[in-house]
This record gives sequence, C-alpha cells and structure tokens, in this order.
Amino acid sequence: MANNFKYFIGNWKMFGLPESKNILTLIDDFIKADTKFNSKYKVYITPPFTLIESYSSFFKNKTIKIGAQNLYHKDNFGSNTGSVSAQMLRAVGSDLVLVGHSDNRAEGDTNEMLKQKIQSALNNDMQVTFCIGESKEEKVKGNTFPFLKSQLTSVLNSEFNKIEDSLIVAYEPIWSIGTGMIPSSEELTKTIKYIKEVLNEIFGKTSNIKVLYGGSVDSSNINDLKIISEIDGFLIGGASRKEKNFIDIINKYFR
Ligand code: PGA
Repeated sequence: MANNFKYFIGNWKMFGLPESKNILTLIDDFIKADTKFNSKYKVYITPPFTLIESYSSFFKNKTIKIGAQNLYHKDNFGSNTGSVSAQMLRAVGSDLVLVGHSDNRAEGDTNEMLKQKIQSALNNDMQVTFCIGESKEEKVKGNTFPFLKSQLTSVLNSEFNKIEDSLIVAYEPIWSIGTGMIPSSEELTKTIKYIKEVLNEIFGKTSNIKVLYGGSVDSSNINDLKIISEIDGFLIGGASRKEKNFIDIINKYFR
C-alpha cells in the first residue's frame, strides 16, 4: 500500500558553511523527540555541494537525510569543468536531488537536460524532486494549467517511477518564491489536483506520485496550507535556514 509520509525538504540554496551543521543538529533533536508524529514525515535538507559529504556522514544514522540542489546532466565522469554528476553525489551520501528548480531553468536547463538529469539520478539510486511552476506572466495570461502540463509531459515518462517515491513533484510558482506571496487556498487546491491528474495520465492512476508545494512557505502560512489535503509536503527555501522557523512549520503542521 502507498505510504502517507509528508515531506519537508529544506532547500538552502547558496547559503551554508561547515558550522551551519548546528542548525541541522537542532532540527534532528526536535524530530527525535517528536515521537507522536515523527513516523508521519520525512525531512531532507539540500545544502550546497560543498557540505554534502560532511553533513551526510554526520547525519548517517540520524533522522535527517541529505540531498543535493542540482546535478550535471551527464552520467558518471567527463571533461565538464565545474560540474558534479549523479554518481559523484551518490558516492558522498546524497539521497535525493532537486531537478528543474526555476533558478536552474533560468540559467539554461532545457527539457532534454532535465530528462537526462532525472534518469542519471535514478540510475544512481537517488530520489528526485522535480520542480515545476509558472511565471507571473503565464499566470496573468490564464495559462497556468497548459504551462504546467507541458513542463510535466515534456520531461517525465512512465519509466521514472519504478520504485515508490523515487520521483516526487514540487509545484513552485515562480512568483511566489522568496516573495512572501502564496496562491489562494482555492487556487492551490485546484492546481495540485490538476497536476495529479496529469501525473495519472503519465504514470497511471495507482502510481500515487507525491506533489509538494514550494514558494514562501513559513510558520505564518503553514496553517492555511495544511488544510489542503492534496499537498503531500513542502519545499522550503528561506525558512529552512533557521532551525526555529523550520521546526515551527513541522510543529504547526501536525498540531
Ligand atoms: P522560498 O524558496 O521558500 O524561500 O520561497 C523556495 C524554493 O526556491 O525552493
């Protein structure tokens, strides 16, 4: 039977130094003590590449899992200066990788590259969180649904979900990232349902692919977001870099 975990994924972006590990230690202590609810959720943090190895070895037998924010689209090794492949990430303990974040799409990630990124992450036993989301312009044009559908169908194929939760989708409207603005509950409910319909078309109804929401999630709006039962978790940027904010989100979600 499909699991019902909620995902809380903290995306640190280009922030974090070795000593920032203290933030994770405090979050990990909270999760361990949260015995009433901690079997209902999973927490991942995606620090910058520079911290993955030390953090993943430190948190190896703990509750927090460590992932990466991106990867190069070619497998294994190659003469690609400045790039990091799926094999390299897996070797240093990355369990998950974000693919298709709007920051990386803006820097040139194409659908073809995103396909290759997902495939090589899966080949190397990492879970993938595939990010999609419309810009303000698409939204204003009333183009959100066709835009999201095209982002999903031009990259995903039914081979990508052979193991449960090996693929997770994160809906992050670009206009809500880092702006403090989130979609209305009504809008968000409709959009998440729509994304799940498209995923059912691609993967079949029983695939039960999880869909997260991301974009300005914090402890002040989590009470509005948690009533939307279609949302399977959250991709959290700014609020994941302070332990109190991140813990408050989880705490309020379950209480
Ligand atoms: P935010 O970032 O929570 O700071 O809006 C989310 C993201 O970019 O993943």
